[in-house]
Amino acid sequence: MIDLLGRTIDYARISVTDKCNLRCRYCMPEQGVELLSHEDLLTFEEIQRVAACFSRLGIHTLRVTGGEPMARRGCLDLIRMLKQTEGIRRVTMTSNGILLRGRVAEAKAAGLDGLNLSIDALTPEVYAAVTRCGDVRDVLAVMQEAVDLGLPLRLNAVPLRGVNEKELTGLAALARDLPVDVRFIELMPVGCGASQAGIPVAEVRKMLEAAFGPLQPDEAPHGQGPASYGKPAGFKGSIGLIAAVSDAFCGRCNRVRLTPEGRLKLCLNRSAGMDLRQMTRAGCTDEELTETIRREILQKPPRHGFGENIPDRDARKMNQIGG
Ligand code: GTP
Ligand code: 5AD
Ligand code: SF4
Repeated sequence: MIDLLGRTIDYARISVTDKCNLRCRYCMPEQGVELLSHEDLLTFEEIQRVAACFSRLGIHTLRVTGGEPMARRGCLDLIRMLKQTEGIRRVTMTSNGILLRGRVAEAKAAGLDGLNLSIDALTPEVYAAVTRCGDVRDVLAVMQEAVDLGLPLRLNAVPLRGVNEKELTGLAALARDLPVDVRFIELMPVGCGASQAGIPVAEVRKMLEAAFGPLQPDEAPHGQGPASYGKPAGFKGSIGLIAAVSDAFCGRCNRVRLTPEGRLKLCLNRSAGMDLRQMTRAGCTDEELTETIRREILQKPPRHGFGENIPDRDARKMNQIGG
């Protein structure tokens, strides 16, 4: 559907859990994390019902996120259910990959159309320092499984000053050697991200161009997200830059979010809105649910407002939002 600012809204990010098997320093605190209980979560049937309402409004692409989506038992069953929902054309997932090891073929068979994997370093010690507990070899194994199966794959890294700075060219080189896109995401001051130091993508671009030569603009379609893509000569895949803070891509924003407890979220940085779980559990009809979502989308804010004193800023951490 088209919102009041003329933006086409055709993409939803569905966060299925706030749990995660890692503790990335820009995302989750190491200890003392309060997590939702199972009863708080939308059931798979409830998520499917909301997805069907989305599709009636012209939202045909879904991205399953977390926390770590694979930390929710049966996540691949949900992928299958979503893919079979009338009007849903593409279902993708953003994951840290660890719990997908040995299961990528199963994910593809369930209908997964693409995978975004988070990988902030190739050196095991640096990866472990960012994630506080992960083994990068698991992620690399999953990457290889996806490549072998021809599953469209993108890698996400968040450059952090003085932490993984020296890893960035090595990560980018994966796009030289393999048909994968490697994306660098500007750190967002959300939750734990506010206490870390990121590196602006303009600086990352300079660093990569010094190593690999100019990034030739790459206008070929690459998913439907906010990244802009370029390719140094001789690269199989592309380099994506996500200027999450420094670029005002909100004018082209195409998405809404569903939180694990069933709230409709109209912008990453704004507090969660309508309680769809309460509505469904109170017995509303599909028409009522669809109409409520439509009306809510018409309230979508014009921009994220990072660094501004906005009254409705979300106090959640990134694992509760799903990126
Ligand atoms: P595709 O392009 O379809 O692969 O999707 P994507 O890039 O949106 O997906 P992914 O989950 O890999 O997100 C990559 C980064 O973009 C994450 O850090 C997200 O938080 C960020 N991102 C996604 N949507 C938005 C948005 O609406 N606003 C901002 N500021 N960042 C976003
Ligand atoms: N800023 C930017 N990206 C973040 N992610 C998690 N927290 C932040 C943050 N504060 C990224 C993860 C994952 C994606 C969904 O969001 O690395 O790749
Ligand atoms: Fe888990 Fe992703 Fe957050 Fe890292 S960024 S702690 S992998 S949810």
